[in-house]
Amino acid sequence: MSTIRLSPALQNLKPSATLAAAAKAKELKAKGVNVLDFTLGEPDFITPENIRQAAVTAMNAGHTHYTASGGIPELKQAVCAAYQRDYGLKFAANQVLISNGAKHSIHNVISSLCGPGDEVIIPAPYWVSYSALVEIAGATAVLVDTTEASGFCMSAEQFSAAITPKTRLLMLNNPSNPTGCAYPVAQLEALARIAVEKDILVLSDEIYEKLIYKGAEFRSFASFGPEVAARTIIVSGVSKAYAMTGWRIGWTIGPVEVIKAMDNLQSQETSNPCSISQYAAVEALNGPQVSVEAMRVEFEKRRNYVMERMRPWRSQFGITFAEPGGAFYAFFNVKSCFGRTLLGGAKVDNATDFCTALLEKAHVALVTGDAFGAPGYVRLSFATSLEQLKAGLDAIERFLAG
Ligand SMILES: Cc1ncc(COP(=O)(O)O)c(C=O)c1O
Repeated sequence: MSTIRLSPALQNLKPSATLAAAAKAKELKAKGVNVLDFTLGEPDFITPENIRQAAVTAMNAGHTHYTASGGIPELKQAVCAAYQRDYGLKFAANQVLISNGAKHSIHNVISSLCGPGDEVIIPAPYWVSYSALVEIAGATAVLVDTTEASGFCMSAEQFSAAITPKTRLLMLNNPSNPTGCAYPVAQLEALARIAVEKDILVLSDEIYEKLIYKGAEFRSFASFGPEVAARTIIVSGVSKAYAMTGWRIGWTIGPVEVIKAMDNLQSQETSNPCSISQYAAVEALNGPQVSVEAMRVEFEKRRNYVMERMRPWRSQFGITFAEPGGAFYAFFNVKSCFGRTLLGGAKVDNATDFCTALLEKAHVALVTGDAFGAPGYVRLSFATSLEQLKAGLDAIERFLAG
């Protein structure tokens, strides 16, 4: 018998479902199958040239050593300057911490603030890692279900009702992965008012802030006045806006005492984020911003194409969805397929079955909504070429017609 005992916090921890779905698709690809893969949430563009060049320059200048654990001063300054330029928000450098990607930032925030007995409010559907990171900290995730009819946005009443004396944090993601929904400004402000009234800290994950489409508007949670800013911990980074997922640079902006605690934690667990990536991120934020808009325009074209193709599915197949105002995901309800066998596959009883049959029979990879606290839904990432989207949507349509 094995003597290995995992820590209680990790015994039930599941791997990231999006990465697992991508791995399954890769496995099939390795067998020579032409899989149309829409699982991963990362821009398909290469990092812009000026940013890549800045990394080369940094290496050649000898920036190949450890840096301060919380990031180089130039990058903290660049983050402050970007928020001032883009949103008119003023932050001091000691309110900023640079980490190894936004996911690491979120981990550090939760680990610094939450422990056993604490509750973290998470509107569902939510990004896969939210509940897992809360679990790792030993805290309890309090899920608040939102609906397609309300654009998957949590109301102020729902937020208020979920607050208990144990509430430590609200985790908000705007625009959202997996739904693509962007909060209407008035609704976001209503949440901010509750946070102030009930004195609740808000982790606002704004990683998709630059990917906003016609009809939607982005407002940083900290922009609703000083009393809201004092309770807001912004998490964002370069991964999505600058096509820099592999460089692993994210940041947190928040109250000095939280940032200090997170810096202490980071100094013990990972030391600094990659020195070269940090210099590249300085160029991303301080350099020309034209590539951000060029990529956003491309994503918007894809979003429009996907919506054009999917709208008829409502009447044809009973597929329903809220149209994404941001990010790069289409999130749709496939409950109308339950009880059916599609293209001769196994009977579909839930969204996970749907994804398995779709992969096996139509060679299209999506992620099940079960992973996002949204049973009955599936997620399609449109961060891929129009050509691939056309082929994928054709194949899904054939599958739905079954
Ligand atoms: C909502 C959300 N937050 C955070 C992240 C993590 O970003 P990073 O790659 O910078 O760790 C992702 C990545 O998919 C995301 O979708």
